[in-house]
Amino acid sequence: MGIVLGIESSCDETAAAVVAHDRSIIAQAIASQDESHAPYGGVVPEIAARAHAERLAPMIETVMHEAGVALADLDAIAATAGPGLIGGVMVGLVTAKALAMAADVPLMAINHLEGHALSPRLADAELTFPYALLLVSGGHCQILRVEGVGRYRRLATTIDDALGEAFDKTAKILGLGFPGGPAVERLAREGDPRAVPLPRPLVGTADPQFSFAGLKSAVLRANESGRHTPPDIAASFQQAAIDCVIDRLTVALNAMEPVDALVVAGGVAANASVRGALEGLASRRGLRFSAPPPALCTDNAAMIAWAGQERLAIGAPADPLDIAARPRWPLDPAADPVRGAGYKA
Ligand code: KG4
Ligand code: ZN
Repeated sequence: MGIVLGIESSCDETAAAVVAHDRSIIAQAIASQDESHAPYGGVVPEIAARAHAERLAPMIETVMHEAGVALADLDAIAATAGPGLIGGVMVGLVTAKALAMAADVPLMAINHLEGHALSPRLADAELTFPYALLLVSGGHCQILRVEGVGRYRRLATTIDDALGEAFDKTAKILGLGFPGGPAVERLAREGDPRAVPLPRPLVGTADPQFSFAGLKSAVLRANESGRHTPPDIAASFQQAAIDCVIDRLTVALNAMEPVDALVVAGGVAANASVRGALEGLASRRGLRFSAPPPALCTDNAAMIAWAGQERLAIGAPADPLDIAARPRWPLDPAADPVRGAGYKA
């Protein structure tokens, strides 16, 4: 039975997990740094890197102890090697290298986006390739055709803000604190999604790219006008964002070769209204719908360990100990470069 240790440290979550080949998460831990970054209204890279450096090693020790496995029992050590805040990525990757070297276990340098892209298969054993993937997080907003492990075709990305970023900025405008996505979702439940007229940027255009900067500015103006309540603004923002997602996905699905399933992953996939709208789209198009449980949508190490398992399963080679940490690392290197396609720090 293959067992992989996963390590995640690319943003503000320090995480470690031990995941078996049969999809069981044997042990895992996540330490959020929300409180350290909240006073600044966003993630401060230096603070994040220092926190990873303090927490990661004892966390790995605890998780390995809970899992009841020794380093030598591992089939691989998988760590996020990018894209992300480079100081944090280096803490996780160097820790993984040292452990891999000491225990003589293969190292797997994982693309964080690949972790998100394959995470639905950790939760859903029936999900097979190829599938259409909406990857929506704080740093990324992409539509991909996932054709296999290591084979991703990107059909769309954002020309300005990522969807999670738009949620976070809306939260900031409404004074809801950081991180904003869950707070906007909660407040939106009390509001009327039709109360505030807001734009749907790029809806109706033939190329399925995303744009959310104009929506954020409109939220700012609506709030400053004093004519709308925060719950109505939150609900109307969320609805506008969902309308954009459904329109862009429809265009992308029409353009891509057939798939059996529509899949969502990344932090924003934890949003129940977003999931509901996507489930509706999937059923209208006769597609299976798959989404990881919310705890596997936001950053975690189980998805990184799982990506390592997927690589082992196709016989992918280990990565060398001199592999570099990468602040930017597109999943589909052949896709046209678009501003915002890599990680936006
Ligand atoms: O995947 P993730 O944990 O980190 C990145 O790789 O970026 O995603 C974090 C993003 C944040 O922007 C956060 O506000 C958003 O996901 N998010 C949500 C929800 N939960 C997290 N957005 C909307 N609704 C949610 N429930
Ligand atoms: Zn992420």
